[in-house]
Amino acid sequence: MKIVTTIDEVRKQVKQWRAEGLTVGLVPTMGYLHEGHASLIDASCRDNDRTVVSDFVNPMQFGPAEDLESYPRDIEHDAALVEAHGGDLIFHPEPEEMYHDGFSSFVDMTVLTEELCGLSRPVHFRGVCTVVSKLFHIVMPDRAYFGKKDAQQLAVIRHMVDDLNMDIEIIGCPIVREADGLAKSSRNTYLSEEERKAALVLSKSIFLGMEMVRNGETDCKVITDAMKQLIGQEPLARIDYVKITDAKTMQQIPVLDRPALCAIAVYIGKTRLIDNFFTEDV
Ligand code: PAJ
Repeated sequence: MKIVTTIDEVRKQVKQWRAEGLTVGLVPTMGYLHEGHASLIDASCRDNDRTVVSDFVNPMQFGPAEDLESYPRDIEHDAALVEAHGGDLIFHPEPEEMYHDGFSSFVDMTVLTEELCGLSRPVHFRGVCTVVSKLFHIVMPDRAYFGKKDAQQLAVIRHMVDDLNMDIEIIGCPIVREADGLAKSSRNTYLSEEERKAALVLSKSIFLGMEMVRNGETDCKVITDAMKQLIGQEPLARIDYVKITDAKTMQQIPVLDRPALCAIAVYIGKTRLIDNFFTEDV
């Protein structure tokens, strides 16, 4: 397993693999890797001969009041995890390598990015689409792996690949959870002991929503009201949104008459956490 910091080094390595007729998978991450990221690396290693993991806290996807500076970083820990899971190359660039002086080209998207997280994070998806496009051009993988944990991001990336005719297969991987249900996230490290307990309302409300769908409830308001009520019982929790949308377009729907996404974003103290389920997985 190698760590490289320049675009040239990645290209050279991938070209060599291509010359040997090997397939390549890409797992884009912002580092501080946990079992959620590891599951994507496992999936890529299963499907491809070689796996590249990008490890880059992308400044462009953070708003001015967000946690870019405090976002956790630990490249040694990440290297050990990638190695243990069979990854072949980590791309760990400095921001200047990705965004040279005078950088001024962006990949932007309407509609899908104007709902859910896009409402409270207006510059977020432009940053995600731009960096992921760059990573796709740098690595040129056969397949790229994204977690359903970030369901809107997964839908946005699928849509971008379709709109812009990128010849890359996008694989969505299931949410990995802690033993008590909390979805694994690099941001869970921000939580105090008390907040960590309070954060369980997210997964509890997701499990409640799933159960209602399993039991045949199709009225989206009935489902989201029950979830909101449960979250409202936790004093440390403040709801950003609890919504049910079309699984592809991310537009809200009143009735479960098609594949849908139920997504939530909740502040626990100052930390904003997300969770969700797709009705097709219930
Ligand atoms: P990051 O938050 O590091 O997540 C990297 C990938 O890991 C994403 O596809 C995310 O959905 C997945 N992931 C995170 N937690 C997970 C969990 N508990 N279960 C399953 N998958 C999980 O998402 C980003 O970075 C960035 O926006 C990025 C795509 C790298 C662009 O900068």
